[in-house]
Amino acid sequence: MKTIPELLQQLTQCIEAEPLDRQPKTLYDPIKYALSLGGKRMRPLLVLLAYQLYKEDTETALPAAIAIEYFHNFTLIHDDVMDKADIRRGKPTIHKVWNETTAILSGDNMLILAFKHMAAVPAQHLKAAMDLFIETATQIDEGQQMDIDFEKRSDVTEEEYIEMIRLKTSVLLGCSMQIGAILAEASEADAQALYNFGINLGLSFQLQDDLLDVYGDPETFGKKIGGDILCNKKTYMLIQALKHAGPLQCTELKRWLSRERFNPQQKINAVTHIYDTVGVRQMAEEKINLYFNAALDALETVQLSAERKQVLLELAYKLLNRQS
Ligand code: IPE
Ligand code: IPE
Ligand code: MG
Ligand code: MG
Ligand code: MG
Repeated sequence: MKTIPELLQQLTQCIEAEPLDRQPKTLYDPIKYALSLGGKRMRPLLVLLAYQLYKEDTETALPAAIAIEYFHNFTLIHDDVMDKADIRRGKPTIHKVWNETTAILSGDNMLILAFKHMAAVPAQHLKAAMDLFIETATQIDEGQQMDIDFEKRSDVTEEEYIEMIRLKTSVLLGCSMQIGAILAEASEADAQALYNFGINLGLSFQLQDDLLDVYGDPETFGKKIGGDILCNKKTYMLIQALKHAGPLQCTELKRWLSRERFNPQQKINAVTHIYDTVGVRQMAEEKINLYFNAALDALETVQLSAERKQVLLELAYKLLNRQS
């Protein structure tokens, strides 16, 4: 069985071999830029780790792993335009270094690259992998649109929020696990359990992303702290703050949400202060642990020894304790 660093090395080699020395440079340079900044590469690791539960030749799962990582990078390039985000992975975003037109088109090209790689999975599993990938990509668009629609509402419920993050984030982790399982010819029951593991890990992961967006360390997080507050994103924390704040603080919070013109840092400080007083950080942490434990429960039902699941568990705990 390969270790996480060994699998990461396999992935990096494959990504570096991508033939991107094409013209025009203005289309391909932003793609090279996005890939050179790396990121955690957790989704392709999940593909390889799910595959490795059953089979050792992880090269077989590389095209699917790369496809999912490219797809993820495509979503981030467009997401940063949609969320008006200036910093990602500690560097200026593509629409800042270049412009929005470049971000749209380079993002589109990364999406095409993603499908190019998914089309290269072994022929006997192509249909199953492609069907799952297409349904997942569709759901991610649905989740991303819900996320944007929610910016304009202040009555978003916890259930609506969970459904939105299941779509925009969790299904890609579920898909990563399930494609690994499909390629390795795992049983239907195991493939479903691994999908459920990915879904719950994804919910815990997105809740934590929302938490780090307020309380993370800007040095390690690599994104602007308070970005969600500026966009009126209906994060778990904002939903809980609206629900549990006293009347005065609730009115103040709603005033910040409705203001068209404001000093960004002042808004971030004021909303964070309300979060601190209401204690939403602890509520979010409890929810993160709840979904993380649900992920562990799903993994328990996979019909393999605890020893075989060890490296996958190692990645899950790394994600739970992440700062970036
Ligand atoms: C960012 O994903 C988008 C979310 C779903 C929160 P990651 O945190 O996995 O981003 P990178 O690839 O490691 O930069
Ligand atoms: C991102 O959610 C989900 C997708 C990109 C599909 P966020 O908007 O919270 O991700 P970050 O915080 O920008 O990475
Ligand atoms: Mg977003
Ligand atoms: Mg974003
Ligand atoms: Mg975020």
